[in-house]
Amino acid sequence: RRVVVLISGSGTNLQALIDAQQHDELGGEIVAVISNQPDAYGLQRAREAGIDAVALPHREYESREAFDGALIKVIERHEPDLVVLAGFMRILTPRFVQRFLGRMLNIHPSLLPAYQGLHTHARALADGAVEHGCSVHFVTEELDGGPVAIQAAVAIAPDETEDSLKAKVQAREHLIFPIAVRWFLEGRLRLEGDAATMDGTPL
Ligand code: GRF
Repeated sequence: RRVVVLISGSGTNLQALIDAQQHDELGGEIVAVISNQPDAYGLQRAREAGIDAVALPHREYESREAFDGALIKVIERHEPDLVVLAGFMRILTPRFVQRFLGRMLNIHPSLLPAYQGLHTHARALADGAVEHGCSVHFVTEELDGGPVAIQAAVAIAPDETEDSLKAKVQAREHLIFPIAVRWFLEGRLRLEGDAATMDGTPL
């Protein structure tokens, strides 16, 4: 089973997926890593793991549609069973989402449906929330709104800072993302209509 990972940044989630693959715990192979940011450190992580690393700078395209069209081409060249968004900081066009619907997962740093969008840690702290976390979800046309597959929660300490909370949540991201990918590649986790299902049962 073949996985293509899209990134924009440091790629710590990508690293967790690479590590899982190297321990035979991913259920498939990462065949390419694509970044819209040419200097993303995650591309270096991919190269070090012997994975095809592709920079596709979105700035070189005149529109979102043109960029997504190019991205679709690069992805499809690698014939993936699953497309994984691991800190890919671009809003995708409906055409792109439809193309990979039901076979694209994203990790988001909140307990969805809470805190969709950016700056989730700061917003949770500002609200005085007692817990926060992360979610892996199927990507649909609603930004950060697709059906959730797995979540992990962390308690917010009284002296929590944005950085400490981010670190706590990221440690959980690195745990749950490889699990969700494995479930998908094993055929256990699926998108059926509007629902994520696990072994045929809606989550
Ligand atoms: C993660 O916190 C993820 O939840 C968010 O972007 C961040 C990517 O971090 N969408 P990294 O590149 O995997 O280190």
